[in-house]
Amino acid sequence: MKQYILEQLESAIISLKKEGVIPESVSPRLNLDRTKDKAHGDFSTNLAMMLAKPAQKNPRELAQIICDALPPSEQITKVDIAGPGFINFFVNNAVVAQQLETALQDTHLGFIPPTSKTIVVDYSSPNLAKEMHVGHLRSSIIGDAMVRTLRFADHHVIKQNHVGDWGTQFGMLLAYMEELRQQDQTSEDQELADLEKFYRAAKVRFDESKDFADRARQLVVALQSGDTYCNQLWQEFNQVSLAHCQEVYQSLGVLLQPEDVRGESFYNDMLPKLRDELKEKGLLKQDQGAQCVFLDEFKNKEGDALPIIIEKAGGGFPYAATDLAALSYRARDLQADRIMYVVDMRQSLHFQQIFRLAKLSGLVQEQVQLEHLGFGTMNGQDGKPFKTRSGGTIKLVDLIEEAKARAYTLVKQKNPHHSESELQEIARVVGISSVKYADLSKHRTSDYIFNFEQMLSFEGNTAPYLLYALTRVSNILSKASTQDFSHTAMDMTNEYELELGNKLLQFSECITRVIEKGTPHTLCTYLYELAGLFSRFYEFCPVLNLEDDALRQSRLQLLSLTAKILQQGLDLLGLETLERM
Ligand code: ARG
Repeated sequence: MKQYILEQLESAIISLKKEGVIPESVSPRLNLDRTKDKAHGDFSTNLAMMLAKPAQKNPRELAQIICDALPPSEQITKVDIAGPGFINFFVNNAVVAQQLETALQDTHLGFIPPTSKTIVVDYSSPNLAKEMHVGHLRSSIIGDAMVRTLRFADHHVIKQNHVGDWGTQFGMLLAYMEELRQQDQTSEDQELADLEKFYRAAKVRFDESKDFADRARQLVVALQSGDTYCNQLWQEFNQVSLAHCQEVYQSLGVLLQPEDVRGESFYNDMLPKLRDELKEKGLLKQDQGAQCVFLDEFKNKEGDALPIIIEKAGGGFPYAATDLAALSYRARDLQADRIMYVVDMRQSLHFQQIFRLAKLSGLVQEQVQLEHLGFGTMNGQDGKPFKTRSGGTIKLVDLIEEAKARAYTLVKQKNPHHSESELQEIARVVGISSVKYADLSKHRTSDYIFNFEQMLSFEGNTAPYLLYALTRVSNILSKASTQDFSHTAMDMTNEYELELGNKLLQFSECITRVIEKGTPHTLCTYLYELAGLFSRFYEFCPVLNLEDDALRQSRLQLLSLTAKILQQGLDLLGLETLERM
């Protein structure tokens, strides 16, 4: 409907331009908002106020002229002018009912997929030297919700897990692995089972023994020059680390698979060529022995241009160089139309720099959309980055276990008679969904405080609230007879139906927004509001025990679409759902 009214407005503008009322040169941004108060209709625009000046008219007068220029329409019952010159549209309820019927039959539930694009999503991307910790939670969860939503919109999505599998710290790890192996295989296996400990132990050895440190350095050089033995060792280490990641993805329901891994090492061979390409274009400058690019738009506080280091003094290619190679690979080889990076906001300058350089150097064509979907930090109760009591980083596996255990206690209190296995399963779904939803529902760019009690609450904008709402709708639907669904005509008879119905029709706009802006939290807010409107509807509108067949069937269809959209929305967020709780 929103799209429809926008088109009506556009056609009014075109005809007013022809008549000379509005100058040809202005191309106004069309704002059309849903009204909060239904007394002001369903949609409202400030168009007349924006165009008043160029048209040299007072806004209310211009509003009337625009209204008169709107093409006749059956879908709009009334157009009003209000306040300083707002134009308010009242939608025909029969049309709402019709659109709901169509959405109910549609696999995309009323959403019209845009032109399909190839979209690369870089997410999760942990460093393999260590175990995944809470810092990787946000990227994995937000990235996954984006992937699911883009796929729903029929885009061709390529997941990329840009793991950190290269760099000097691997020398230390390989040296330690070698040392343990010389002792015996079992201790090596045991220590690798906990990568955090392994990393710390290797660091201790590195700091305490000169021989060890020398060996570590030797191994880095050997690794870089393609030495077979060293490569073998490195691959074994990475496999163990990747298996840890894969376990986490699996328990979180994150779609990433081993074949999505394209780590930093993958771009190694491309780096010298990349440097040469930048050099040929005259972009490189030597600075203290390093090969750098200086872009005018990036300066420090003192006003000096900041370097993007392409090759370090003494050789070696840093993070930025690898990321440029990855950009070029994604644009040229993967043929991406759009590339999204779901990475901590603290890397925002890095991405601004490499995006600019990629375009400037022609590594990536101008029309390719490059986006950094930055996210804020997940903090503990004290407002500081989330840590264990002893100040260590919290491992994701431990966090997931705790969520499940807490959910178990809650679910058992509520349902003491469920079987043990059912309790366990509900606790798993509730625990994991709660952690994921708490993260997804916060504005992507803000920091947030991790709070188990809040996220597991059955009230407020939480996963348990939404999962429970879905079980309630499904439960009503399961009690209806099959004949009740044979009839398709819907009727909007009161405000509760209309509000719920209108919300259901906003699903399409909501998905468009998530895709354009990369903001899964807008989908969370939408689902939360939808669940609220469902509750209100159900409080005031009887369904199953209605005598009036047509009305019962109409309401059941409304609930049917509610269930479908709730289910689909939760799927897009990567949340598992339950039949009963
Ligand atoms: N490995 C990096 C980290 O843990 C994130 C990589 C993000 N992706 C990228 N293409 N730079 O901070």
